[in-house]
Amino acid sequence: MSLRKIRVFPDPILRKKCKPVKLIDSSIKKLSHDMLETLEYVGGIGLAANQVGVLKRVVTLHLPEEDHRILINPEITKSFGTREVKEACLSFPGYQGLVKLSMKVKSRWLDINGSYYKLSAEDLLSQVLEHEIDHLNGILYIDHLLAHEKLNDAKQIGLKNILADQKLDDTKSENQPHIHDVDINLIVDKENTKSDDYEHLETKLDLSLIYSDSSMEDLKYDLHNAGYLSDLDNKN
Ligand code: NI
Repeated sequence: MSLRKIRVFPDPILRKKCKPVKLIDSSIKKLSHDMLETLEYVGGIGLAANQVGVLKRVVTLHLPEEDHRILINPEITKSFGTREVKEACLSFPGYQGLVKLSMKVKSRWLDINGSYYKLSAEDLLSQVLEHEIDHLNGILYIDHLLAHEKLNDAKQIGLKNILADQKLDDTKSENQPHIHDVDINLIVDKENTKSDDYEHLETKLDLSLIYSDSSMEDLKYDLHNAGYLSDLDNKN
């Protein structure tokens, strides 16, 4: 087994749809075990194959106090109700956001031996199944954000922390600092072809902590922290 590199937003592979596994062969077995090892290494609870750069419908889970699971071609067959849940993702290190998910899901998949599983899930398992199966379809939790200001910097430091806490409070007063929403339209040339095969990622984020008097440098810093810029090109 070996560790695989976790792809971080806005890596275009996170927006691609994974293909069904037709045969559980040695490469799928190796992928699954590598994904489990990677999940253990980073201390995560769920990982989808495109997060390690492979477009196959494979998910690995390791919920607290449960055995790990390998899910081949997992599907949600039914969902019930809605609830608000705080989400985080290994592909958005340092961030978390409030999203609307189902109360309960019915799901099915194959295990690594090709045995068929069917399960009704609630709570964390339901959440993780929805999150990971979304990944396989190129959907990320930021697509479900209840409000864009619900994406918070999870780092517990200084002013950022205080502001993040304030923003989680729905009774926020008007005296608090005004924070901008930022419209971002990222166009990624996936294959570097300069052809029409562009990935358009359109999103609106409150990148937290951008005051009305923020400078461009502050904005770049926040974009970088949110994973939108690979390098800080402002060398001031
Ligand atoms: Ni994720």
